[in-house]
Amino acid sequence: MEALERGRLVAFPTETVYGLGADASSAEAVERIFAAKGRPRGHPLIVHVADAAGAEALGCPLGAVGRRLADAFWPGPLTLIVERGPGVVPEATGGRDTVGLRVPDHPLTLALLRAFGRGVAGPSANRFGSVSPTTAAHVVDDLGSAVDLVLDGGPSRVGVESTIVDLTGPEPTLLRPGGIAVVEIEAAIGGPVVDGRRGPARASGMLASHYAPAVPVELIEADAVEEAVERAASAGLRVGLVAPFDHRHRPGWRLPADAGGYAAALYATLREADGSGLDRLLVVPPETGGLRDAVLDRLAKAAAPRDAGRV
Ligand code: TXA
Ligand code: MG
Repeated sequence: MEALERGRLVAFPTETVYGLGADASSAEAVERIFAAKGRPRGHPLIVHVADAAGAEALGCPLGAVGRRLADAFWPGPLTLIVERGPGVVPEATGGRDTVGLRVPDHPLTLALLRAFGRGVAGPSANRFGSVSPTTAAHVVDDLGSAVDLVLDGGPSRVGVESTIVDLTGPEPTLLRPGGIAVVEIEAAIGGPVVDGRRGPARASGMLASHYAPAVPVELIEADAVEEAVERAASAGLRVGLVAPFDHRHRPGWRLPADAGGYAAALYATLREADGSGLDRLLVVPPETGGLRDAVLDRLAKAAAPRDAGRV
């Protein structure tokens, strides 16, 4: 907390991924985040607070729908885009008059946020464009001495980033699928959430290539595994296989069949595969589960050509 007060960078655990935190009311502190991540200044950060009252204390009105969603899902993997209040400097939101707010579900970080009392701006604690960190060791691997303090809260339980819903338009709009399924959000609101993923990229996670490991990723269906392995082998490529079922391919990883379990292990698996000297990584998506949409979104981005949609 003292580090945050002095404008320092503190990496913190959440249930989704680790965040790289700084005082959201200080332009200098926030600038350090962009510098450490190598993130373009125009990409807005999510601001973390201890509870819904903490959001309103920043001068960010949640509105009726926002309060209902906060009641239903905070602390939890849901980010709400609302009007930015004076408790958040414009530098944190790339100059926007809106801000993404979230109450993370992790006891260590909730204690930090309560003690600090202000908002903590915090993107995922990785270099811009690479795979998000789900352990403290991932943060150190990626950012090393660029971060002043890393709080180790164990592996992230959910494993993919929060769902982002924009409440500033005429209808609640999905900007990024994530740790809470859209059907659950619609049930809590009692109405539809519009899919805002088409059209120009509004969230950095919406760029076509993002969350990407260095090894080229190819998405395949379960029944195409054998053929894809043979094709790659005959081209002289060293391939790895990630799949939600038992298999004998080496190097290989077996992830849970349910998208929730799959999501929890996904980023650590992609990092491990990245360190295995592969030419290509074949990935079979999960079959079922409420987080399937979020996992498919991240896999599609991991598989997108390296320079697609980058700014
Ligand atoms: O689970 C998470 O959301 C994690 C943890 C650390 O809380 N954070 C995270 O932050 O994923 P980051 O910076 O990697 O992604 C934040 C996303 C970006 O895609 C950004 O463009 C979008 O949120 N975003 C933030 N503020 C926004 C705003 N005012 N309008 C539109 N999109 C916004
Ligand atoms: Mg990120």
